[in-house]
Amino acid sequence: MTLQDSAHGNAGVAERTEKRWATISVAIVVVLAVMAAVTGIHQGTMPQARVETTDPTRLHLSGEFIESNLGTAAEPDGTVTVRAIGQQYSFTPACILVPAETTINLRATSADVVHGILIQDTNVNTMLVPGYISQQFMRFERTGDYLMPCQEFCSFGHEGMWGRVKVIDKAEFANRAKNGGRLSCVGE
Ligand code: CUA
Repeated sequence: MTLQDSAHGNAGVAERTEKRWATISVAIVVVLAVMAAVTGIHQGTMPQARVETTDPTRLHLSGEFIESNLGTAAEPDGTVTVRAIGQQYSFTPACILVPAETTINLRATSADVVHGILIQDTNVNTMLVPGYISQQFMRFERTGDYLMPCQEFCSFGHEGMWGRVKVIDKAEFANRAKNGGRLSCVGE
C-alpha cells in the first residue's frame, strides 16, 4: 500500500463518519418536528392567542390578582375561573378547588421570577412569567387529587414548590359556591 492509498482510505472513513452523523442530526430534527406536531395537534397544546400584561410589583395592591380575588370563582354563565399566583416558593392558593365535568379558565401570573404550573396527568402546563397573565382552559372528567409542581427552575427552593388541585363533584361544588366569593381547598 502506498502513502497515497492510505490517505485515500482515511478520507473514506472520514466521509462515512460524517455521513453517519449527518443522518443522526437529521433524524433528531425529524423526531423533534414529529413531537411538536403530536403535542400541538393531538394533545391540543397551543400558545395563548392574546397577550395580557400585569404589574408584578402591585399584584397584592389592586386588580385581578389581589389576594381576596384569588381562588375559584363560579361565573354567572356556568363556567368557572381560577385565579392563582406563583411566588418563591409557593402557589396562592396552595390548593385549587374545581368541579368535575366543567370548563375551567385558569388565569395565573408570577409575583417575582418565572415559575410554571403543571398539573399531573393532564395537558395543563404553562409558564408563569412576571408581568404577563397566563391563561389556559382545562377540564377534569373525574374527581380526585392532582399534584401541581412548579415546572420552571426558580432558584434554590424550586424543588419544594408544590401545589395541589382537588376536583370535586359538580353538584358539591355548586353547593359550596352558592354563597359567592372565592373557593379553595387550602387546609382540606
Ligand atoms: Cu417556582 Cu420552580
